[in-house]
Amino acid sequence: MNSVKVFSPASIGNIGPGFDVLGLAIDGLGDTVEAREISGNEVVIENIFNADHDISNNPDKNTAGIAAKETLRALDIKNGVGLTLTKGMPSGSGLGSSAASAAAGAYAVNELFNGGLSEDELILAAMKGEAYVSGGYFADNVAPSILGGATLTQSIDPLKVSKLGTIDELILVLIIPNIQILTKNSRDVIPNKIDKRHFITNMANTASITAAFCKNDYALLKDNLIDMIIEPARTKLIPWLADIKSAAVKAGADGCTISGAGPTIFAISNSHQRAKKIKYEMEKEFNNHGVECTGFITTPSNAGSREVMMD
Ligand code: HSE
Repeated sequence: MNSVKVFSPASIGNIGPGFDVLGLAIDGLGDTVEAREISGNEVVIENIFNADHDISNNPDKNTAGIAAKETLRALDIKNGVGLTLTKGMPSGSGLGSSAASAAAGAYAVNELFNGGLSEDELILAAMKGEAYVSGGYFADNVAPSILGGATLTQSIDPLKVSKLGTIDELILVLIIPNIQILTKNSRDVIPNKIDKRHFITNMANTASITAAFCKNDYALLKDNLIDMIIEPARTKLIPWLADIKSAAVKAGADGCTISGAGPTIFAISNSHQRAKKIKYEMEKEFNNHGVECTGFITTPSNAGSREVMMD
């Protein structure tokens, strides 16, 4: 029987003010899905490894399972598929965990049956899986997980997604606190009405970040991660955010904000030496608040989902 193994990277949704439209694949973290043809015509989640929280093995309640079923439907294939999901990041951390599983599920099934779907079709299949757990229909994690680099979602219906590229100088300092925030809950706090001045600032910053990734220009990204609308609303779920940001900026960060729906916080720099200091100071500030965390320094991943060697 055929089988394939696919890795899909973690991602930072939003990239500051680009709520639901900008996303960035990151190096060093991600999920793996092995897909194999099995007899019958069902999708079966055969194994889930390395999960830090309960993840359903019901294919209708599992992001990789839903995405795999959507992919089979889009390919018009009725074969049975067995999936093994290996988590490579914490769930509910704001690093696109459910999106990476969904992306890997869709990509693996497409590869298993010889890759008939387009990137847009794969993104749509993975979005169905992501929507089940996140309570929202958006592509800012799924798109970078599939395409790599930074991505822009111009529209979700019809789907229009562009890969913007990456910024070679960009270094990301990620601090993942040992708590879980469900995207669903983090979306419930978003205000329905916004201040016009905040809207203008967010638009200007989102446009600058988009241009920065198109032009591979760190200077355009620097100082533009400021989000006047969503981040302040989410602060009630991440009460130590202001102190962590202040510690990052004092240590030399060129910006610091929530990754996705949180609680991971990321800061940016273009210096490895400063990045180490920023990580140290951010971790120290988390400790001051009595919150356990794991920090690491990484870079964007220009590669998205890809087939990897079987063990
Ligand atoms: N754009 C989504 C949000 C990303 O911020 O709710 C979730 O990771």
